[in-house]
Amino acid sequence: MDKFVIKPGDALHGSVVVSGAKNAVLPILAACLLTEESCEIQNVPALTDVEEMITLLEGFGAAVSFDRTGEVMNIQAGQLNSMQADVEAAGKMRASFLTAGPLLARYRQVRIPLPGGCQIGTRPVDLHIKGFLLLGASQKQEYGMVELWSKSELRGKNVYLDFPSVGATENIMMAATLARGTTVIENAAAEPEICDLADFLRKMGADVQGDGTDTIVIHGKKKLHGAVHRVIPDRIEAGTFMVAAAITGGDVLLEQVQTEHLKPVIAKLAECNVKTEQTEQGLRIYRKGRLRPMHLKTMPFPGFPTDMQALFMSLAAVAKGTSVITETVFENRFLHAGELRRMGADIKIDSRCAVIEGVDTLTGASVRATDLRAGAALILSALAAKGDTEISDIYHIERGYYHIEEKLRNLGADIRRENS
Ligand code: UD1
Repeated sequence: MDKFVIKPGDALHGSVVVSGAKNAVLPILAACLLTEESCEIQNVPALTDVEEMITLLEGFGAAVSFDRTGEVMNIQAGQLNSMQADVEAAGKMRASFLTAGPLLARYRQVRIPLPGGCQIGTRPVDLHIKGFLLLGASQKQEYGMVELWSKSELRGKNVYLDFPSVGATENIMMAATLARGTTVIENAAAEPEICDLADFLRKMGADVQGDGTDTIVIHGKKKLHGAVHRVIPDRIEAGTFMVAAAITGGDVLLEQVQTEHLKPVIAKLAECNVKTEQTEQGLRIYRKGRLRPMHLKTMPFPGFPTDMQALFMSLAAVAKGTSVITETVFENRFLHAGELRRMGADIKIDSRCAVIEGVDTLTGASVRATDLRAGAALILSALAAKGDTEISDIYHIERGYYHIEEKLRNLGADIRRENS
């Protein structure tokens, strides 16, 4: 298995082009199942999660072609021949469950593995299923699979989500586009990726309103058609490079970024003494003085994103003073703290709260990526550490970062891949 070896280097300098958003592209690919017509999706990064989604779509009988260099994918879900998800592909990725809503709406049946828990929490799909049942579906769960079906077309209803779950909002929104009548999703998630999915659905002929607020209204249509769509830039990848610039005291320009999606990150970086500047070419990030500590709490959008929490812990580990980080979205998302401690960080965890005393410098160590963002946090810490760092289990990182080592090398980092 591959590992990353990172040597201490200079502050990062230069520019980096942000890829398409993983968390936008996965639901959009699932949405292609809503129509028999061909869809073209642009700005699709060839991430391992994207490859798993292709396997899944092909397993249902869709024809998929992917120009990995041009980052354009064509999907035609003409006549599907299976309503049973490829168990292996679905098991590898929680986002596979996003195919349930479209298939249930179009074919009135689907059989798909229940996503298991993962390192960062139990991550149930009860809210997705509750929504489907309200729209008129029935369900049976056995042998680790959930079977969903409906004798007649789904019917629009009011769906109140107990928590503004991103995945549940997307799944119910997709199912509702082909339901009879009007669906209102209340306490809906408002993440930019929800808006990107809604934009794509509208291009397919769906009537979706209110995305980006906590109430989404969908008037169901009999049929949707093919569409062409360009995926939004990845705000978490952008945020990762912002923290990379900040932690090394560098000066980096992000190209192809939507600054308004990064407001909570920019605000928190400002508290840490990191400057951002909108230029004609993109978003510039730089730091001159010592990093200041921060207090942050993860929240649904527009709050501070949970996917940036581990990265900010790396920053807090070398800031001058005491930082407090509270994780409210996932119940077990501090696994990176143990690995950061191996690099000399001073972190105490009490339930969902982490207290970090900044140290003058971290030291390189052999560490393990425990999940996607935790792995990225280790890379950033290694960039600012004394001595070499080896990061194993980097397959987690490749699920969500496109060519991260090339992008960092272009900014001056000394990072290479080795086969262990
Ligand atoms: C998505 C993102 C992930 C991000 C997360 C929160 C994708 C592919 N992934 O994940 O990167 O960290 O949003 O911003 O877009 N929950 C339930 N029942 C449910 C659904 C969720 O209890 O039916 C809980 C989860 O366990 C978690 C919380 O709600 O504690 C948030 O989960 P959710 O917003 O659904 O995250 P995902 O869509 O899985």
